[in-house]
Amino acid sequence: MTLASRPSPRTDYSMRKWVFDDTPGKYEIDLSRSYIDGGRLSELTLPPDLELGYGADRGTEPLREQIASLYKGHADSVLVTHGAQEALALAYSTLLRPGDQVVTFRPGWQQSWDAPDLMGCQVEAIDLDQDLGIDLAAVAERVSSRLRMIVVNSPCNPTGRRARRAELDALLRTVTEHDGYLLLDQNYEPDLSTSAAIDSDRVISVSGLSKIYGFPGLRVGWMYGAPEIVQACAEHKHLTSIANSVLCEVLACDVLSRSEHYLSKYRREVSAGIDILTRWSAQHQDTLRLTPPEETPFGWFQLLDGSDSMSFCRQALEQGVLLMPAETLGGVSGFRVGVAIPPAELSEGLRRIDYILANQHDFERRTTG
Ligand SMILES: Cc1ncc(COP(=O)(O)O)c(C=O)c1O
Repeated sequence: MTLASRPSPRTDYSMRKWVFDDTPGKYEIDLSRSYIDGGRLSELTLPPDLELGYGADRGTEPLREQIASLYKGHADSVLVTHGAQEALALAYSTLLRPGDQVVTFRPGWQQSWDAPDLMGCQVEAIDLDQDLGIDLAAVAERVSSRLRMIVVNSPCNPTGRRARRAELDALLRTVTEHDGYLLLDQNYEPDLSTSAAIDSDRVISVSGLSKIYGFPGLRVGWMYGAPEIVQACAEHKHLTSIANSVLCEVLACDVLSRSEHYLSKYRREVSAGIDILTRWSAQHQDTLRLTPPEETPFGWFQLLDGSDSMSFCRQALEQGVLLMPAETLGGVSGFRVGVAIPPAELSEGLRRIDYILANQHDFERRTTG
């Protein structure tokens, strides 16, 4: 089979292309970030005589214990993975078969529709409702007898909205009726102690150290779920990465041993950033709508005139500011702004967007005529 004849992913313009191909070196201010300003190796401790062996396929015992304590649960419910991304990929490859139905929501995380689609699943990517909530009526209408999985990201990237308990309960009832699973991507949830995965074997929670703790470079994530699911995913992990890096797992243990410190830093910086963003958005109510972020390190704007957000983000790039366009997140006419960066940088980035909003007509004339 040639590369060209493979089933093509559904996303036309991927986040990968925007972040790694098209924008590097073209901006001074990064407002595209979905995580708190990056952690440094110098804050962490490494034992110099650490043995660099294979470690443990499911993650070292101390790390799994620490992760389990975030859920107030048990280490045999934990599988350590290369970022939340690998945990999600393992859930797809382990639990899904071609022809299974998978329900996910847009705008959202590209992997949740493209990965099952590439496996030959029948994907229903349902648009979020007007208020960016889960459209339960649309779910009921589109679910088929082949339903195997519903994927929910809460709080959501990019909308910043947390799924309501009633929404999760309804979705859990639906997957239970179909003998399926609710895959709950909680990469932006600071409080995992109330996760729906604690009370139900049908819910698999995924999270990691990238977003809230600010250590995406460690590539440490995890899944938390029923021990037999976790074990089945560990079998699949043996076919991909075998185990995580021992080095990164030791550093991850150090981060989680001070989780209270990192969580309060996160909450402080996110709330300061959201304040700045909210004040700024109040000056642009005629052109933009901000969805109030629920503890996420970013805010989600919709362009009220329905215009092309890729073009808007390219204008921002010309002003030296990197935004995250809706098109990379399965959406239209919107962009995501990261707020967990130094306040002066955030304010300067927003000032440059002011300039674009004020000169929108000039730009449109230049590009169309
Ligand atoms: C919703 C969501 N899920 C998963 C990931 C993957 O993150 P990581 O593998 O760094 O934990 C991201 C990263 O942006 C994300 O936004």
